[in-house]
Amino acid sequence: MQTFAEALGSPRWRPPRWEGSESQECAVWESAIPMPDPAYIVGQTQILMAEHLGLRWRLGFGCIGIFGVPGTGKNALLRQAAATLRIPMFAVDLSAGLDLVELVGGTALLSGTTVERVGKLTWWAQRGALLVLNEIQAVEPSMQTLLHDLVSERRVVIPSLEGAPQAILLHPGTLVAVTWNPFQGRMPEPALLSRLGAIEFPQPSQADEAKILAARLAAADPELARSPAEFTRDLALFTDLRQLYEQQELGLFPDMRFALNFAAHRLAVGLPAAVRTLNALALTGVGERQRSLRQLERVLVAHYPQARGILTA
Ligand SMILES: Nc1ncnc2c1ncn2[C@@H]1O[C@H](COP(=O)(O)OP(=O)(O)OP(=O)(O)O)[C@@H](O)[C@H]1O
Ligand SMILES: [Mg+2]
Repeated sequence: MQTFAEALGSPRWRPPRWEGSESQECAVWESAIPMPDPAYIVGQTQILMAEHLGLRWRLGFGCIGIFGVPGTGKNALLRQAAATLRIPMFAVDLSAGLDLVELVGGTALLSGTTVERVGKLTWWAQRGALLVLNEIQAVEPSMQTLLHDLVSERRVVIPSLEGAPQAILLHPGTLVAVTWNPFQGRMPEPALLSRLGAIEFPQPSQADEAKILAARLAAADPELARSPAEFTRDLALFTDLRQLYEQQELGLFPDMRFALNFAAHRLAVGLPAAVRTLNALALTGVGERQRSLRQLERVLVAHYPQARGILTA
């Protein structure tokens, strides 16, 4: 199988690099290159996604959309790609009520005088970085404009007090990656979607998910190091729980983070504690919670018969 780096197109290709001369700026640039994650698992899904990402970067599309259910590894992939290509990464969560001036720039009052400020996103966009914008489905109009500028025009527009707004072009090495969850039919508007060349990040196979759980737990605590085969039952349970979610019997998607939390509790403190971590998945509405917990229990007991009664007690 090819390596993750090969799937990205490296070493034959690497993004055009920013050539800074100011030593302090160069130090900031270097410090934002992520470290490769020694526990990163490269399976078929990761290779496939790295190919899409590398291709769009190399061919100069300048952007990519990656969507998929929570916890499949969208952000882990992007981080590992930046680490492999030795490019700084700047990530923001657009759902978190962001300050646009802080992000993009604008005029600010500084000890009585107005000064023009370049925001963080703009600073990185100008210097050849992987810009990661998460949770884009729920963005307000001002954010929509920002996304359109980044993706379609490859520029950032900063409002100015004196005269016309300032348009700053993206560095040719900059790639804009946006991620979102497609739940409840939430997708970006069609114009943005087509420009992003959106790709769905598939759920990793059960075997790969077992490897990921094993790698994460071993990295967190050597005492929790186990072979991937020891998580087979946990992943069979989570596969069934995900089906329960599809049938709208759960309030939350049982993603890989839930699976990791379950496995960590099971190994470190025992099954009853692990079972209690599943409680949060149940529907919360009056009248539906008890039914949801009973469904959870039914699925759980099929894999861990000794866990009967903990959820519904
Ligand atoms: N291939 C992998 N190898 C090792 N760990 C991984 C891998 N993929 C994902 N993980 C781990 O799984 C967890 C979830 O991954 P990540 O945050 O990238 O998911 P996501 O798809 O961005 O989720 P969301 O849609 O909720 O933002 C993280 O702890 C991450 O480190
Ligand atoms: Mg994410």
